[in-house]
Amino acid sequence: MRCENKTVLITGASSGIGLACASELAKEGARLILSARRSEKLQALALDLQKTYQSAVHTISCDVRDRKAVQHALMQLPEAFQTVDVLINNAGLALGLDKMHAALSSDWDQMIETNIKGVLHMTEYVLPKMLARGVGHVINIGSTAGHQTYPGGSVYCATKYAVAALTRTLSQEVAGTKLRVTEIAPGMVETEFSLIRFKGDQTRAQKVYENITALTPRDVADAVVYAMTRPPHVNIAQILLYATDQPAAFRPG
Ligand SMILES: NC(=O)c1ccc[n+]([C@@H]2O[C@H](COP(=O)([O-])OP(=O)(O)OC[C@H]3O[C@@H](n4cnc5c(N)ncnc54)[C@H](OP(=O)(O)O)[C@@H]3O)[C@@H](O)[C@H]2O)c1
Repeated sequence: MRCENKTVLITGASSGIGLACASELAKEGARLILSARRSEKLQALALDLQKTYQSAVHTISCDVRDRKAVQHALMQLPEAFQTVDVLINNAGLALGLDKMHAALSSDWDQMIETNIKGVLHMTEYVLPKMLARGVGHVINIGSTAGHQTYPGGSVYCATKYAVAALTRTLSQEVAGTKLRVTEIAPGMVETEFSLIRFKGDQTRAQKVYENITALTPRDVADAVVYAMTRPPHVNIAQILLYATDQPAAFRPG
């Protein structure tokens, strides 16, 4: 129970990496604020975690792109959940794999709004309270696509380079406090990510994971728990996490 008495806010907790973080942190005794747009998925997860681990869970149904909705939801937190010790900015997505000239500008907008502005909307609310207490931990889920580009990934990669830049800048800005800032940057993880990227095309999504053993959401959650449970004087600045079968962000073919 290494996270007992810690309140952790996880965005994108309805699926994949966020859901796995919720389960692993529930096991570790954390009090959880779970956020995503699909409230029925969050409710089902909350019930499961309450039943299995007797976890204290609060759910927030909101779109991270909507600054006002984020602020409203966070202002309504029940008293027991108001002190956020750890913020895990995980909500995000890729849309399409077309070259820059052929990609849809509506897809660019959604990726930029979610992956960059979503992180900013959450952080701008939570960070001042952490600074006032002089302690806290912001963990951003970046990507290997934020460290290496690939054809067809232009805007997705750009958003994840932005997450890496925001993470590094924030860690410089909080220097001198006890706040910690971490980027966890995974390679290929088998989640709903490809199904969303290919807009419901199951066959194309499944092909992504053919003939390789991808990372599991739990592998990424393990890295998150590792970063969270180091002694307070240790800040894990960045973890790059590749599947053994995936030597680089770019997979030819
Ligand atoms: N899977 C990979 O290969 C991989 C690799 C590197 C990095 N990542 C990153 O890992 C993070 C999680 O992705 P995943 O693989 O777990 O994908 P996933 O299974 O599709 O989960 C994405 C989560 O983000 C939430 N989300 C998306 N748009 C949102 C919005 N506008 N407002 C609020 N929540 C939103 C979704 O919830 P709702 O739909 O319910 O809102 C869902 O819970 C993303 O930032 C992704 O870029 C993934």
